[in-house]
Amino acid sequence: MTKRILVTGSYGQIGQVLVPALMDRYGKENIIATGRKKIPSVFKEKDVHYHRLDVRDLTQMQTLLVEHDIDILIHNASVLSATGEKNPQLAHSINFEGFYNALEATRMLNLEQLFAPSSIAAFGPSTPRENTPNDVITRPTTIYGISKVYIELMGEYYHQKYGLDFRSLRYPGVISPEEPGGGTTDWAIWIFWEALRNKKYTCFLKEDTSLPMMYMPDCIKSTIDLIEADNSKLEHRSFNVTAFSLAPKDLVGPIKEAIPEFEIAYEPDFRQQIAESWPASIDDSVARKEWGWKPDYDIPAMTKDMLEKISKMI
Ligand code: SER
Repeated sequence: MTKRILVTGSYGQIGQVLVPALMDRYGKENIIATGRKKIPSVFKEKDVHYHRLDVRDLTQMQTLLVEHDIDILIHNASVLSATGEKNPQLAHSINFEGFYNALEATRMLNLEQLFAPSSIAAFGPSTPRENTPNDVITRPTTIYGISKVYIELMGEYYHQKYGLDFRSLRYPGVISPEEPGGGTTDWAIWIFWEALRNKKYTCFLKEDTSLPMMYMPDCIKSTIDLIEADNSKLEHRSFNVTAFSLAPKDLVGPIKEAIPEFEIAYEPDFRQQIAESWPASIDDSVARKEWGWKPDYDIPAMTKDMLEKISKMI
């Protein structure tokens, strides 16, 4: 059945891939991209319907949802972990007010569904770090992580109080050639760009800092699969998803195979502390059981595809 979908924060790393994927699946005329910053060139190439939207403006958000007769709101707008620590006040206004507006607009307009991503950042130093289960202590220490716990709890509250169909994925670091938006996992993108451009990369995390990750096609697949999942089979509203865990040192060998001169140096900065507060690996068996989640890409397949794609972009 045709769905009309509006995506906030769609000019970001994930949105600029998600929007064309949604257009392919639901029809170009049914997808509205919104954002606040620079419009990605791919949107112009693909003739995407886009509108400026600051998610802190509820009236503007509601107007777009009504005018475009939207069924599903995908609320991706967020200030990420590293940018958030530099400007917690901005992160608070965009992440908290923005999500509250998305929730209220969904409730007041009686939309069919609200999808809003959570993150591995919802976990904190007191969470078990290895194979972190779905249902576990979440006491994050970044403003970004706190906003993700807010999203999960408020979404679940509106679900039980108003029957609002809220769904969320705790995305791990998402790897793709697109420019990332100021997160702690961004190294796993820049390493490929710098390897191809300069044959060397200085990493802002220590070599053995492992974090859960996935390749962009799996991120898009998990998002569409959860949006389309049978509501009656969902016992949870927020799900761990992952494909593999990756530390900077794990990519050196695979990159050297393609670029033998590649060299890496490590200069950990404030992002090291953020990374150490997150799990090294997470258990996504609840997502696998409730809606059949399964990733397609492992580290070698992701590495090969990233090097091929970026080579063509340079
Ligand atoms: N990629 C995000 C970040 O590093 C994690 O959700 O902030």
